[in-house]
Formats: sequence, C-alpha cells, structure tokens
Amino acid sequence: MPRRPVQKLKRSAVKLGPFELEHPAVLAPMAGITDSPFRRLMRRLGSPIVISELVSANGIEHGGEKTIALLRFHEEERPVGIQIFSEDTSLLCKAAQKIEKLGADFVDLNLGCPVPKVVKRGAGSALCRDPIALGKLLTELVNSVQIPVTIKIRTGWDATSRNALECVRAATDAGVRWVAIHGRTRAQGYSGEADWDFISEIKAKSSIPIIGNGDLATPEMALDRLKSSGVDAVMVGRAALRNPFFFEQVHALWRHENYLLPSAERYLEILKTQRLLFEEAYSPRTAMLQMRKFLAWFSAGYPGCHDFRRKVFSMTDFEALWQDALLFFETQVRDRDLRFMAQPFLMGGHG
Ligand SMILES: Cc1cc2nc3c(=O)[nH]c(=O)nc-3n(C[C@H](O)[C@H](O)[C@H](O)COP(=O)(O)O)c2cc1C
Repeated sequence: MPRRPVQKLKRSAVKLGPFELEHPAVLAPMAGITDSPFRRLMRRLGSPIVISELVSANGIEHGGEKTIALLRFHEEERPVGIQIFSEDTSLLCKAAQKIEKLGADFVDLNLGCPVPKVVKRGAGSALCRDPIALGKLLTELVNSVQIPVTIKIRTGWDATSRNALECVRAATDAGVRWVAIHGRTRAQGYSGEADWDFISEIKAKSSIPIIGNGDLATPEMALDRLKSSGVDAVMVGRAALRNPFFFEQVHALWRHENYLLPSAERYLEILKTQRLLFEEAYSPRTAMLQMRKFLAWFSAGYPGCHDFRRKVFSMTDFEALWQDALLFFETQVRDRDLRFMAQPFLMGGHG
C-alpha cells in the first residue's frame, strides 16, 4: 500500500453532532456485515463510531426474533447507532423510540437503499424522491426521540433527479444531526464512480455536518477526499472488508504519523479475536458461517485468493479450514504487495 505523506490537515478531534471523534473516518453500515461482533472489532481497530445494518421498522413492530436480535449491541460499541428503514412514518417513530429505550446513542434512517424489494414499498432511496414529504417524515422522526437522528442518502434517484441538496435542506430544517451521502444515484447501484465533486458541492451549501461516502479504497485516499471535498467526515465500507486496519491507519495519518503495516502476528491475533467475538454472539454454526465470509473478503486480491476462497466455502471441517486460513494470512501478510487494495471490490449492497 502506498504511504506517501498526506497534505497537512488539522489534528484536532472531529465534532460530529454531539460526538467527538478522534479522527474523521467511520465504518459504513453494511447488511449482513456490521453486526455487533464486527462493530466491536472495528471499534477496537479504530472506527470512532459504528452503525448497525439496516433494520426493518415494520419487522421491529412485529417483534420477530431475528429482527430484534439485530438491535442488540455491546457497551464496547459506543457510540453506536441503529439504522432503520420503512416507508411508514409512524412505524419509523415507534422503532426509533424502541431503539432509544434500548440505549443506542443515535438512530440512523436509511434513505439510500437501492434494492428493488425495499424501494418498491417506497422505502430506502425512494423516500428521497419527494423532499417535501421527506421533510415532514423527518420532522416527526426527530420529534419522536431525544437521541440524535441521522440519515444516509444517495445523490439522487437517477441522473436527471440528483436532489441530494434538497434532501439535506429538508433534513436540516427537521433537526437531523448529520447526513451521510453515498456519491451515486439509486439508478447507478454500484456502477460508475462515486461523484465526489457533487458531494463537495452539497457540503459547501450545507449547514449541518456532511459525511462523504463512496470508493475510498485506501486510508490515504480517505483523507485526500476529506480535504478536497471539505466534508466533515468520510464513511468507509468495502475497503474495511479487505483491510481491517483501515481506521487505525487513518488515525495515524490524521496525527501526521506514518502507519506500520500490521505484522503477520498481529493479523492472526485479529482473526482469532474476531472468531472469539462471533462465538460469543452466535451459535457455533452461525459464528463459523460469519467467519467464513470474512476470511473470503480479507483474502480478496492476495495471490492465491481464488483457490483459498474455494476452500473457504467448500471445506466442511472448519478447524482444518481455520488452520489453512491462519497459514494463508501468515504467508500473504509477510510477502505482501498491497497495490490491489485500490481495485473495485464487492459491487452491491443496501445503501
Ligand atoms: C454488502 C453491502 C451491504 C450494505 N448494506 C447497507 C446498509 O444496510 N445500510 C446502508 O445505509 N448502506 C449499506 N451499504 C452501502 C454502504 O454503507 C456504502 O454506502 C457503500 O458500500 C459505498 O461505500 P464504500 O465504497 O466505502 O463501500 C451496503 C454496502 C454493501 C457493499
């Protein structure tokens, strides 16, 4: 990974709503990924706040076991936000109240999900199509709880309706504490590139904190984008699935220090910690399935990753796979050439 010096940035803590962050890069919410054990790991590895995956407010109302399980968090995660989605304002308010009661530090509304199942109901990114109606919804949501309400949006529905600025204004009037913007339209899904010029333009015209998001592949790039766009913070999703040390590396650069690449020993220690965190939270079977997914992501791009990935999803003896995995990472991390980290990766998701 290139380690050129970043341009001078202020070193002070970063204010985001009521929270003071040690540095300005935060982990993005990701469905099936940012569960409580992974959020704990990422807090330990330097993400200054964490957010759950999107949770259905309708599901919370019905009280299904699986949905309620998604609301659980560990004290170690604080500040932690729970992200919700629905097309129904009253269900969103009830869900936010439940989340407040559970003690979460903030509630985040998903307004960026492009998935047909979600937008067809009028939830996710569909709610941004009408900023006036959105403003009313957000006002009710903000008034329904004491904890901060934040939102995550895209730049617009499609190339002809990039109305993120109107959405940010509606959010500002409603009392939303920050807006995270994934720099693609709903129509783009994950194709093309995040439009950081547009994010920058919105930031310049906004009076509440803006978090820029999209395609930040390396810690250096994250801080370069932060500086060039003027956003208050950046949000990083997929890159943290290839490089779990992303946030502590940003923190080092933020302090004007060069970061050391993790040693093989440290890499293995983190894998073992992650396995323990999964085992603490889940049944042995679920813990193993989660760990398999992460082994595949963490290995993506390393030489031999295709063969290793095949093993990850085909070996039935998990302990044997685990020994292979430790060996794979020990070898790869020792002899690495990390230029591949800047390549596109995992092109799909809920925001
Ligand atoms: C597998 C996956 C799941 C995602 N799930 C969510 C989600 O639950 N809520 C959300 O707001 N965004 C979700 N996203 C979008 C990310 O938060 C982020 O906006 C997007 O990946 C772009 O950032 P990146 O280029 O740093 O990954 C998801 C993305 C991926 C790849």
